[in-house]
Order: sequence, then structure tokens, then C-alpha cells
Amino acid sequence: MRASGLFISFEGIDGSGKSTQARLLADHLTKQGHDVVLTREPGGSVGAEEIRSLVLEGEPDRWSAETELLLFTAARRDHLERTIDPAVSAGKVVICDRFADSTRMYQGLRSGDMRARVDALHDLMIGREPDLTILIDMDPDLGLGRALARGTSEERFEAFGAQLQAKMRAGFLALADEFPNRIKVINGNRPIEEVAVDVTRIAQDHLK
Ligand code: ADP
Ligand code: TYD
Repeated sequence: MRASGLFISFEGIDGSGKSTQARLLADHLTKQGHDVVLTREPGGSVGAEEIRSLVLEGEPDRWSAETELLLFTAARRDHLERTIDPAVSAGKVVICDRFADSTRMYQGLRSGDMRARVDALHDLMIGREPDLTILIDMDPDLGLGRALARGTSEERFEAFGAQLQAKMRAGFLALADEFPNRIKVINGNRPIEEVAVDVTRIAQDHLK
């Protein structure tokens, strides 16, 4: 067991297999004897889950880009305070489905000046990165098909369609170049078990 825990995030476009791989990794590490907390954003604490339904349900133009950024950041702050930081301090492995990279993409790429605002707010209110981020890279059309096939009410972002998916995919790959030490890219266009082998290997390297 580690004296101090590990914080791992999964990132990628909608339908890339993040939740699936996060769950498989959590099961794998739990079997190995690690104390694992599997969580997600937006959400992962009582208050943040309430904010989640505000931002993910309803009309696509329900919030301005700026208001949306504040809501996602408020949810993240609560999640950090109440779930992530206490677990990592207690030596646990926290596996989080999306974190701040999603805000850098979904809110940060909305217009020319938004990324700077995202970064400023992150520095002010969050100030924390995962130890490791696994980016599942995925064909945008395939990802959208998978996401829409789930048929949930949380489709505000899926409603933006294939063009947004393609833009996010390119943005995530550029982000991996920006943070090469933290973000590891894996190919998600393969069967679940094959993707999981890569995920496990990368996570194990960080647990050593
Ligand atoms: P995300 O959390 O990135 O949106 P999910 O893990 O929820 O993605 O996966 C979206 C859908 O695609 C689910 O129905 C899941 O079972 C399926 N799926 C996930 N990974 C794969 C894969 N590698 N190949 C085929 N289907 C997959
Ligand atoms: P999520 O439930 O992970 O969706 P999916 O399983 O389809 O990938 O996230 C819901 C949506 O929230 C997703 O479209 C991305 C968006 N999102 C943001 O726009 N900003 C953020 O900071 C986060 C965490 C998510």
C-alpha cells in the first residue's frame, strides 16, 4: 500500500469508454488489495451531483459559456473538498471519470478567450491536477453513436453533435501534447478487453 494515494483521471470524448475502463481498473486494483474510490465529474459528492443535473439536463442553450464554467468549477471544488482530497490523503487510489481537462476542452474551446478564463479559475479555485490522466482516443462518429445509444436524459452535450465531438477529439490530443508527463493516450477503437490491458499497464507503472 502507498503511504499517500494516487489520483487518476480518465478523459476523452463522449462514448469513448471512460466509464467502462474506469470501472474495470477500479475492479482490478481492488482485487490487488488497493483501497479504491471510483468517482466522476460533474458529480462525485452530494452537492456536485445536484449541480450535475443542472448542467447536463435541459436545453443546449440553457446556460452561457461563462455560467457553465462557474457551475462545473463549483461542482469540482465540492468534489475535491469532500471526496478526492480526503481519499488521497488517506492513501487511497482515486479513479475519476473526467476532471479539469474536460473543462479545458468543453468550456475552454467555446471561444477564443475562454481557455484563459478556464485556466485562471482553475488556478484560483482548484489548483490541482491528477497524478495520471488516461486519455481514451476515439473516432468521433463512433463515440457519438455509442453515447446516444445509451439514451439517458443527460444529453445536453451530446445534442451538440458530431462536429463538437470531432473538435473535442482534436482538442484532447493537443492537450496531451501540452501535458506530456501527465496525460497518456490510448487507442479506444478496440475491444474493451484490449483497451483495458493498456489501461492496467499504465496505471501499474504509476503505482510502483
Ligand atoms: P464514456 O464514459 O466515455 O461516455 P462508456 O464507457 O459509457 O463511455 O461507453 C459508452 C458505450 O459504449 C457503453 O454502452 C459501453 O458499453 C460501450 N463501450 C465502451 N467501450 C467500448 C469498446 N471498446 N468497444 C465497444 N463498445 C464499448
Ligand atoms: P459524462 O457523464 O462523462 O458524459 P459521457 O459519459 O457521455 O462522456 O459527462 C457529461 C458531459 O459533461 C460531457 O458531455 C462533457 C461535459 N463536461 C463539461 O462540459 N465540462 C466539464 O468540466 C465536465 C467534467 C464535463
